[in-house]
Amino acid sequence: MKEGNDYHQELSGLLAKWKDKPGNLIMILHEIQNHYGFVPRQLSLQLSALLDVPLARIYEVLTFYNYFKLEAPGKHKISVCMGTACYLNGAPEILRELKSILGVEEGHTTKNGLFQLEVVRCLGCCGLAPVIMIDGKVYDKVKKNDIIDIISKFTRSKEPE
Ligand code: FES
Repeated sequence: MKEGNDYHQELSGLLAKWKDKPGNLIMILHEIQNHYGFVPRQLSLQLSALLDVPLARIYEVLTFYNYFKLEAPGKHKISVCMGTACYLNGAPEILRELKSILGVEEGHTTKNGLFQLEVVRCLGCCGLAPVIMIDGKVYDKVKKNDIIDIISKFTRSKEPE
């Protein structure tokens, strides 16, 4: 991740590209999101000064669109399905257990940056409900007591099976 002047240089480049174009704020934010996977607060502060746009306006845009993230993505992305089949088969309990073990709310990343917890609507394998997905791999018919084992595979080794 870049710091201080590097941020500034990058923003200057983006400004030169988008400066006179309509909708430039959102286009610049898109480029930042694409590049970093989130929009760092430091960049928002600098963008506010460079574009002469209030920081509150930038955060209004960032929080309006789900696409923009305010935190760095976790190394491992955990998606908990809350679609109807999963919900009826225990997904809320699975989510509670994950929150409790990871110490993080949905939509956020753990302090150590290892896990990002998300809730999704139907992963397309309802017959296997409840399901969670970690880094693209589906774990089916998950039970509350399975969670700690699943998670520990990612904390113990670099390459979970
Ligand atoms: S509802 Fe969970 S996979 Fe469809």
